[in-house]
Amino acid sequence: MGATPTERADVVVTQGIPDPGLPLLREASLSVRLLRDEGAPPREEIAAAVPGCRALLTLLTDRVDAELMDAAGPALQVVANYAVGTDNIDVHAATERGIAVCNTPGVLTNASAELAIALMMAAARRVAEADRFVRDGRYTGWGPRLLRGMELRGKTMGIVGAGRIGLATAELARGLKMRVVYHHYRPSPDFERALGAPRLELDDLLETADVVSLHVPLRDSTRHLIGAAELARMKPTAVLINTARGPVVDERALVEALRRGTIGAAGLDVYEDEPALAPGLAELPNTVLLPHLGSATVETRAAMARLAATAVVDVLAGRRPDNLVDPDVWERRRHP
Ligand code: DGY
Repeated sequence: MGATPTERADVVVTQGIPDPGLPLLREASLSVRLLRDEGAPPREEIAAAVPGCRALLTLLTDRVDAELMDAAGPALQVVANYAVGTDNIDVHAATERGIAVCNTPGVLTNASAELAIALMMAAARRVAEADRFVRDGRYTGWGPRLLRGMELRGKTMGIVGAGRIGLATAELARGLKMRVVYHHYRPSPDFERALGAPRLELDDLLETADVVSLHVPLRDSTRHLIGAAELARMKPTAVLINTARGPVVDERALVEALRRGTIGAAGLDVYEDEPALAPGLAELPNTVLLPHLGSATVETRAAMARLAATAVVDVLAGRRPDNLVDPDVWERRRHP
């Protein structure tokens, strides 16, 4: 069941998502308006489509604030974000209005952790740089000093943020025989008991780790968590991995640190002003740069679609989903 551009749709979906997302909505007899098959629609297009809708299925590229929720009107009961991060949504404003916000936790943990490890290996062993070297026709023969990188076995992995993805990344690092240390606002029994990893203050972790991998959500308290001062504490050979959110790192300070050799290399999946890059970043050979692929496996993207669509169907049917970002909203939720 679809909705023509002038009809009110039950669910506004901002961008095409993999199956079984839209089929699940349609099987529940919900009318769906898909704004763009591919590419983020401009905000005005979303604002024009939402009046009267009961649910919004958004992506991390869509800003969902009080103004947009009010443009939708009193029928809006749920915003399901096709991401685990919800920094694009004003969750507080949603709760105040009795609108449930759901995300996609759990299903992208392994994919994201695997990508952090892929970035670590690529940056440590200069894989992207070496690939460019060969493609550019510069490979003229084996050499003992050619493109030497950092061996990982026995090195220290510093995990910043001990949530699900941080833990899964730490487990993979232990599989590579790395020592793990972590920084988190409270102790994590999973890190300490299962991995034997000590909790360190951030400064101590930065000074100790050979690889620093960021796994914190973006909040006011984590914006520019890693800036010039923090980079200066790291080892000159250290590798910084960011698969969390771009603004957690001061990207201009990072460019400077990589340029000066304050740290050794960086592997980035996210950027401060996505999809734009800080001036100079793309020219640095000691970076591996990916287009926000943390959850981009066939399996995970399908699981995310199922979770987001099921949250919409459940909330509209009056069933409490497990993936409410602010569970307190349920008692005060809007009713049809
Ligand atoms: C998320 O879900 O927050 C990820 O960044 C998507 O890849």
